[in-house]
Amino acid sequence: MNTKIFFLEESSIDYDIIDKAVEIIRNNGTVIFPTETVYGLGANAMSTDAVGKIFVAKGRPNDNPLIVHISNMNMLYYLIGSPLSDGARLLIEKYWPGPLTLIFKKSGKVPYEVTAGLDTVAIRMPDNKIALELIEKSGLPIAGPSANISGKPSPTLPEHVISDMQGKVDMILCGSKSRVGVESTILDLSGDTPVVLRPGGVTLEELESVLGTVELDRGIVGRTEVPKAPGMKYTHYAPNADMVIVKGELEATKKKIQELVSWNASKGLKVGVLATDETAGYYKDCRVLSLGSRTNTEIIASNVFEKLREFDKIGVDIIFAEAFDESHIGMAVMNRMKKAAGFNIIEV
Ligand code: TXA
Ligand code: MG
Repeated sequence: MNTKIFFLEESSIDYDIIDKAVEIIRNNGTVIFPTETVYGLGANAMSTDAVGKIFVAKGRPNDNPLIVHISNMNMLYYLIGSPLSDGARLLIEKYWPGPLTLIFKKSGKVPYEVTAGLDTVAIRMPDNKIALELIEKSGLPIAGPSANISGKPSPTLPEHVISDMQGKVDMILCGSKSRVGVESTILDLSGDTPVVLRPGGVTLEELESVLGTVELDRGIVGRTEVPKAPGMKYTHYAPNADMVIVKGELEATKKKIQELVSWNASKGLKVGVLATDETAGYYKDCRVLSLGSRTNTEIIASNVFEKLREFDKIGVDIIFAEAFDESHIGMAVMNRMKKAAGFNIIEV
């Protein structure tokens, strides 16, 4: 497939390019688009034919449902099967457009191919002008998973989507680096109590401040529980190298990591350390990448997928990573890192 690649700026959008992308969406083709969280691989959510192409391009299992991206409230009402609750209304007012996906009972209009046979549908309004214009001008809700090959770290930069998806989709719209850098929070509003199925850009603390009680799906808390978001059960975000997280007080963590680095390096392995600005200078005999300063977890979040991909490029055999505090956006950061590490965690 010949993939057309265009570069756009959110602040001065070239509408000729958007028009070309709109035509592809209306003809049930595939368009990768930037969002504030990660890049998405989009197709017309109302067409089973179009949605089928997403699964093929990503190599994604068919039992993993897709998020539907919308640009206005009429699209929401079209897609959901029951009236909005007060809680949903408050969340939408506060966080849309933004990194919050809400799960509702679906209307009869949503194809089961999108929801993988479920009677619920995941919906979000992305906070990126290129994405919003694409959806609005298409006049169609756009189904879109993260635009990575299934199992790989989600793409936050144009070069990530181009290397994963060139030749597999009709068009790639390249924007800037994704601002949030981890995927949206998924909140299930289809039952009696709101349940977070995936921590993300909107934090648990923020959701609680609007809704009061919010539960965390057990699949987030431990690796042995079966998660409720079907996609959360698959191997995720995996760099090519093995990865181990070291968790504990910072000085002890640094010492333990250096000990592990030295031992592995002595066996002839190429070792990587995922560190922070405060600690990066400490490590020897390894490749060190910093996620940013420990004082700014938002920046850490925006760099995590990029740095995992950078280790793939460097070609290390094993990665040791420092753990982070799991409050606020740290919960999403650690969720992605634990999955990338296959829950390989050493506590010191
Ligand atoms: O930030 C994001 O959410 C990005 C951007 C592109 O919008 N999208 C994204 O999509 O991360 P994806 O497909 O990589 O992850 C969607 C997750 C999967 O774990 C899937 O199982 C879950 O959402 N999901 C979708 N529909 C669901 C439903 N009806 N019930 C439970 N989980 C659902
Ligand atoms: Mg994904």
